[in-house]
Amino acid sequence: MAHIVQGTIKTAQQIANIRESGKYLNELLLLLREKAKVWVATIELEFVAEHFIQQHHLKGAFKGYDGYPANLCLSINDCVVHGEPDATILKNGDLLKIDAGLVYQGGISDSAISVVIGWELANPRAYDLIRVTKESLEVGIQTIRPHQNMFAYGSTVSQVVKEAGYKVIKDLTGHGVGNAVHERPYVFNYPHPDLKKTFYKPGMVLCFEPITALMSTDFYQNPWEEALYTDHGDVGAQWEYMLLITQEGYEILSGIREFV
Ligand code: MF3
Ligand code: CO
Repeated sequence: MAHIVQGTIKTAQQIANIRESGKYLNELLLLLREKAKVWVATIELEFVAEHFIQQHHLKGAFKGYDGYPANLCLSINDCVVHGEPDATILKNGDLLKIDAGLVYQGGISDSAISVVIGWELANPRAYDLIRVTKESLEVGIQTIRPHQNMFAYGSTVSQVVKEAGYKVIKDLTGHGVGNAVHERPYVFNYPHPDLKKTFYKPGMVLCFEPITALMSTDFYQNPWEEALYTDHGDVGAQWEYMLLITQEGYEILSGIREFV
């Protein structure tokens, strides 16, 4: 029989903790979106997150994960994911990805948004890429059916992105989450054959996160940093929800639904 690529089923208590973690995460992401303005250094957003985490007696899920040094991934323009907060100053028209994860009583949450600094008119193409990326996620999750496989999700996301003239970065995927930042399975954003062997089961918690670019389908990494960059130096975007699979369908445990 073909190997089945499964994720873990969470207990009711684990789900309650992950849900609470996700509520805090939404609050944090909205706070960070408000603070992400021209002339702000990305490390200042990291300090905002650190303060929020301490204030609410939480832990950052990313800090210390695989040696990662910060609570946030803040990735600008062609830096598509895993950018480390530093002295870099946000400029008008920058496309910033804000990716964060929290731990509440062992329950781990993970979600991300993208924002154009200075809003739509500062960079209309980047803004449109974000709009399409979020749209692909919204349409993609509508295909989720408990006990069915994940192939329709991957096909749908890549179709929405492609029809708008943009690209999915192929090797950057969603994932299981909840007890660790990254659990099985991989949730591909294109019709990867493994998705046919990967089934939604009630009690699974999954991150769905299309990661896209204007032109690139691949990324590269410099040996001295965690950050990943688009192959062609074009702008990349990301939007991420964390979902619980239920008997009826799904519940969004974290992620920002409003696109501004
Ligand atoms: N949200 C990120 C992802 O799914 C998590 C980054 S973990 C880090 O890849 F340690 F690299 F920050
Ligand atoms: Co993630």
